[in-house]
Amino acid sequence: MTEVIDGKAFSAKLRENIKHQVSDLKAQHNLVPGLAVVLVGEDPASQVYVRSKGKQTIEAGMNSIEHKLDETTSEEVLLKLIDEMNNDDSVNGILVQLPLPDHIDSDKVLATIKPEKDVDGFHVINVGRLSTWTGKPMIPCTPLGSIMLLKDKLGSLSGLDAVVVGRSNIVGKPMAALLLQESCTVTVAHSRTKNLQEVCRRADIVVAAVGRPEMIPGDWIKPGATVIDVGINRIQTPEGKNKLVGDVDYASASQVAGAITPVPGGVGPMTIACLLANALTATCRQNGLADPDFG
Ligand code: GUN
Repeated sequence: MTEVIDGKAFSAKLRENIKHQVSDLKAQHNLVPGLAVVLVGEDPASQVYVRSKGKQTIEAGMNSIEHKLDETTSEEVLLKLIDEMNNDDSVNGILVQLPLPDHIDSDKVLATIKPEKDVDGFHVINVGRLSTWTGKPMIPCTPLGSIMLLKDKLGSLSGLDAVVVGRSNIVGKPMAALLLQESCTVTVAHSRTKNLQEVCRRADIVVAAVGRPEMIPGDWIKPGATVIDVGINRIQTPEGKNKLVGDVDYASASQVAGAITPVPGGVGPMTIACLLANALTATCRQNGLADPDFG
């Protein structure tokens, strides 16, 4: 019987845990984590994300700082804002929503955020810390949420064959680093991979993060494997309705997998919960306290 991995319920429990720890931090150290989110322009999907992040930040008992900047904002102005927040003790976490408008160099912006406040884990210092597992990395939110779901489902991942389909800096590469840290045998597959079906069929764990709707069918999945579907793709049904689907063909894969995340309600809700977790972790580290325990 295939288990549906309920990311919505798991993320609700995680946010409850965070809320309690935030409350203790206030009571014991008079500290309230401050999470700043910067949005440049009016991309509709980004606006939805930013609104949701702000709402959940407040619900967790943290301070939410939102900077909504005009599409025409110069790189210089954005870098100056980041610099001010880097030096503001009431701001513990900084997230600049991507994508940025074309006239702004995203790499330069990400490199300007202080690594200790980089709750996205995108700064090269954090990428280096994650790949070498030294010096306490900030871990990108979606891979962090995915590894939490995997460990909750499987316990130890040691020795398992894991395939990550997709090699993005935001998901694929950090996911591979985390799986390696859990002692999996890791393959990173991508658009040039030969015999992708065979590569996937060998895996005990398949993490799909390519951004192509329903690309991975059930007959690419080994019976009993655990499937983590990171894709969130909006498609039109033949009836002309909008629908969210993952990178995995859920209907066929859920007949074969041992456990699978649905879309929506799988990895998606974990991402913002892990952003809050990172904001709390960043606050503790900046104040010389032990890392929080997320169970
Ligand atoms: N845009 C889409 N996903 C993300 C994310 O995880 N972080 C940031 N900063 N922007 C995004």
